[in-house]
Amino acid sequence: MTDGAAGTPDGERAEQGIAARIRDQLALERRIDVADAGSGDPREANRQRWDERHRERDIESSEPNPILVAEASKLSPGAALDVACGVGTNAVWLASRGWQVTAVDWSRVALEKAQAKADSAGLAVDWVEADLLDWSPPSDAFDLVAIAYLHLPPEERRTVYAAAARAVAPGGRLLVVGHDRINLTEGVGGPQDPGRLFTAEELGSELTHADPALLVERAEVVRHLPSPERGPIDAVLVVRRRDAALV
Ligand SMILES: C[S@@+](CC[C@H](N)C(=O)[O-])C[C@H]1O[C@@H](n2cnc3c(N)ncnc32)[C@H](O)[C@@H]1O
Repeated sequence: MTDGAAGTPDGERAEQGIAARIRDQLALERRIDVADAGSGDPREANRQRWDERHRERDIESSEPNPILVAEASKLSPGAALDVACGVGTNAVWLASRGWQVTAVDWSRVALEKAQAKADSAGLAVDWVEADLLDWSPPSDAFDLVAIAYLHLPPEERRTVYAAAARAVAPGGRLLVVGHDRINLTEGVGGPQDPGRLFTAEELGSELTHADPALLVERAEVVRHLPSPERGPIDAVLVVRRRDAALV
């Protein structure tokens, strides 16, 4: 595992956006962690809170994720899947770069904003409204599968991330960006439940043990440093599925 700073052509503006978004996230993640007690259908209550959050205001950066931008820019555009796409900034950016994008989220409010964003850019994205625990993408279908800031409880994470990995076509890649577990003690914002956090190394080894056709290409801690003191700390994982001929 390496420990580096994120630096991309989209640079500081996007980094500041990430930092602000993560600080905003803290309050909501806390609400989500505690609010299910006593509700009839905890999953539906959770989904509605995401709707509420997306309705309240634009909680995500208006810039695409700089790590996604850097990784996708190394690849030839093909079919991409954005898992838990939120308001679609990353999906629309991918579409603008020639990717054929499918993007899934369970928040209708987020997807309506995403659709508006795509429409105003004159771009087409296949938006899917679904709970990731009920919906699985087709296997071996996408050259790039991206998951950004989807912090699920461990059991749910295993299910959803394994399905995402299965969706990667031979020669394709899965990119995961999320808060690293050390964000709890050394970073800012993000979920405060350690069970929802992970390291790229452990996620990479979990996925490659389950599927030997997968290879870890990148497993890093990335520190965003909007201030000299402290910034959000991400786990960044890139996993490639071996070409069919090599399996
Ligand atoms: C923090 S946002 C991240 C959005 C986007 N990937 C980004 O990086 O800006 C997490 C998203 O996951 C979605 N989400 C959470 N649990 C989900 C589930 N079980 N099924 C589908 N979407 C889910 C939420 O609706 C929300 O839009």
